[in-house]
Amino acid sequence: MAQHDIIVSIRNLDVKYDGLTALESVNLDIYNDDFLGIIGPNGGGKSSLIKAIMGTTPYAGEIRFADTLKQKNHYKIGYMPQVSEFDTRFPISIEEVVMSGLQTEKGFFSRYTNSDRQRATALLEQMGIADLAKRPIGEVSGGQMQRALLCRAIIAEPKLLILDEPTNFVDNRFEYEFYNMVKGLSNKMAIVIVSHDLGTITSVVKSIVCVNRCVHRHDSNILTEEQLLNYNCPIQILSHGHIPHTVLAHHSGDCCHDHH
Ligand SMILES: Nc1ncnc2c1ncn2[C@@H]1O[C@H](COP(=O)(O)OP(=O)(O)O)[C@@H](O)[C@H]1O
Ligand SMILES: [Mg+2]
Repeated sequence: MAQHDIIVSIRNLDVKYDGLTALESVNLDIYNDDFLGIIGPNGGGKSSLIKAIMGTTPYAGEIRFADTLKQKNHYKIGYMPQVSEFDTRFPISIEEVVMSGLQTEKGFFSRYTNSDRQRATALLEQMGIADLAKRPIGEVSGGQMQRALLCRAIIAEPKLLILDEPTNFVDNRFEYEFYNMVKGLSNKMAIVIVSHDLGTITSVVKSIVCVNRCVHRHDSNILTEEQLLNYNCPIQILSHGHIPHTVLAHHSGDCCHDHH
């Protein structure tokens, strides 16, 4: 990826729910070579930002997508939901979950072809779970389901991959491994990954975006407490050390003031 082009441009974005302002006056550019970590406290508006980009929540303001993201009638954006949000009682196999990531480009009523199946198999192999292809989703572990959902998010070869707290409710053991799998994709597509902690995320992403009603982009993956304070981002800090410690920096400022 030689160029450094804006693929998503957000201007004056507001997201409100019945009088509650989740996001206010947000300006943010996402580039084709980005690997962004979105951090911020619970309820800070991280998911609202993702949903606005995905077009699944109403908003005021402007979100523009580059032509390079467009394909026919849809955008080449892969989305990975939280494992916990995916209904695993569905009687479908891991392979079918992965292929369902092709539905937007194929249309709902087309059948899967052999080549679709081959694409799914190749991805499952890459993630080390090819042996689970025919397994019903109710019979796999959280970590395995997580990998399947990642395969599903990338099977249509998106230009932008968005993951909203993908490691929540999944065994910690898989967390670092999972982030490294995602990192392996970052030379092929822009990646935006939401996490509520700074621990693992800052060691894999290139840049950090703080979200707490307003949004600050930091073009570095190193953030000191002082910087967070300067940017008025009250963020829960988990250190990289063996004994993580938590610092809750609550303070008021011109934008990200505590509104609870
Ligand atoms: N569908 C909704 N209806 C009403 N309030 C919502 C809805 N979704 C989110 N909120 C509220 O908006 C704020 C931001 O939520 P969210 O974007 O989910 O934050 P985060 O993902 O950072 O935890 C929270 O106060 C939350 O309760
Ligand atoms: Mg969220």
